[in-house]
Parts: sequence; C-alpha cells; structure tokens
Amino acid sequence: MLHAVDFYCFSPTGGTRKAGMLLAGAMAETVNEIDLAKGNASAPLSDLAIVAVPVFGGRIPSLVNQKLAQLQGKGKKAVTAAVYGVRAFEDALLELNDVMQSAGFEVIASAALVAQHSIVPEVGAGRPDAADAAEIRQFARRVLTAMERGSSPDVIVPGNRPYKAAMKVPASPLSLPACVGCGRCASACPSGAVTLTGEGVVTDAGKCMMCMACTAACPVQARILPPPLQSGMTEKLGALRDVRRENQFFGLNQPE
Ligand SMILES: Cc1cc2nc3c(=O)[nH]c(=O)nc-3n(C[C@H](O)[C@H](O)[C@H](O)COP(=O)(O)O)c2cc1C
Repeated sequence: MLHAVDFYCFSPTGGTRKAGMLLAGAMAETVNEIDLAKGNASAPLSDLAIVAVPVFGGRIPSLVNQKLAQLQGKGKKAVTAAVYGVRAFEDALLELNDVMQSAGFEVIASAALVAQHSIVPEVGAGRPDAADAAEIRQFARRVLTAMERGSSPDVIVPGNRPYKAAMKVPASPLSLPACVGCGRCASACPSGAVTLTGEGVVTDAGKCMMCMACTAACPVQARILPPPLQSGMTEKLGALRDVRRENQFFGLNQPE
C-alpha cells in the first residue's frame, strides 16, 4: 500500500467514482480526491495519480480533457481508467493517456472498467459489482508490485488517432412540472448549463453535454431526458442488457 494517491475523477452520476475509488482505495491509505466537475484541477500532491473518467460517445468529455491538460505532471506516475456503460470505450482510453502524457505524467497502467449505463441503467445494472471489485483490487496489487520492482511501463491501449468525432449532443434534459425549484440540478451541472430562474429551470443547450448529473441530482425525479430520446436510447442499447462486458487491464506485462 502507498501512503497517499491523488484521485482525479469526473463522475456525473457516480459510476465512474465508484469504479475509480475501488482502484484508488486499494492502492493507498489516503485518497486525495480531486473532483474534475468543480473548478480547475489542483496540482498533484502525491507520487501517483489515479484518473477515472467516463466514456461519452467513445471519447472522454472535452471539459475533462481541458482540465487534465492544464495539470503539470512533472514525471509523476499515473494510472488511468476509462469507465463505460457496456457498449464500447473506443478511443477514450487512448485519448485519456495522450492528455496525461502531454501534461507530463508517466502512465504506468490503464484500465477500461464497466459501470452501469447512466442513460439506460438497465445496461450494466449494478456494476461495478463484487466480481468487478475483486478484479480491480487484483489490478491494484499488480500495479503496486510493478512499482516496487521499478518495471518500465509498456502501456498500449486500444483506440485510433485521429480519435472518432466528438459526440453531438442530441438534446438536453428538461424539467417536469413536478420540479420543486430546489436548484440542485443547477448546482450539480459541471458545465454551468443549468440555471434556476424565477420562471423555473433554464438549460443552455450549447453548454449541456448530456452528462446526466442534473437528472441524478433531482430529489423528485423531475429532471429527465426528452421522452422520445430516452425511449430511443433504451431501444438502441436494449440488446446490451444481458451482456456482461469484462473489464480490461493494460500495461502490466510482467506476471505476478
Ligand atoms: C452522453 C453520454 C455518452 C455515453 N457514451 C457511452 C459510450 O460511448 N460507450 C459506453 O459504453 N457508454 C457510454 N455512456 C455510459 C457512461 O460511459 C457510463 O454510464 C459511465 O459510468 C457514466 O459515468 P458516471 O456514472 O460517473 O456518470 C455514455 C453516457 C452518457 C451520459
């Protein structure tokens, strides 16, 4: 176990944090958590950074890319995790590693971890679960062993450059008449797209990345995707309901 790690995390609905925390908590006694949804990412304090980011349309959210790009790794080590909802992670892990390396970190291992789909929760329901937790802990042990041995990293992850085109946001969540005007959706929005006004909740579609943070934060379930979009997504991803996608781990080429 390390004494401390920095845990950089962006988790609009909690799945990425859950998966990333399993990793960070298995590696160090103290986890210094930096929420990438809030303000600028603060400089790393420890020798190792764990970075967990959700996959949006096969990429990492551009807001996260911008915040990570401002860090100064100064040769510190990083373990990266792209967390996705069963469909595919495509270029996201490669993009995450590229931005971390450009920011001066040495990426020593990576993972593509499965979590519940934040738009269609029947897909990947309950993940990460106990079996995922055991795999992630084993991965953490292998990373720690590799660090002790001082083994050189060889982290090759799937993905293509140029990356696939960034996802076009099809619509923004809306507030139903049941909205109680508590403003939690506005506070939860990482891109400042949601405002509580005298007339109710207003959403700036140009800023919204459809991350679902506002829907998850609503205490009365009055914040939803437009129903035709929700049912279209549920239908499109429905076939993945019974798929158990495996977590994938990269960069530890030495056996335990
Ligand atoms: C806008 C958006 C796009 C997504 N795109 C993908 C995708 O390309 N592939 C995939 O498997 N899951 C995709 N997901 C599911 C998320 O990657 C997954 O649920 C992740 O755990 C969400 O993180 P969070 O729970 O921390 O918010 C997407 C979710 C959202 C909201």
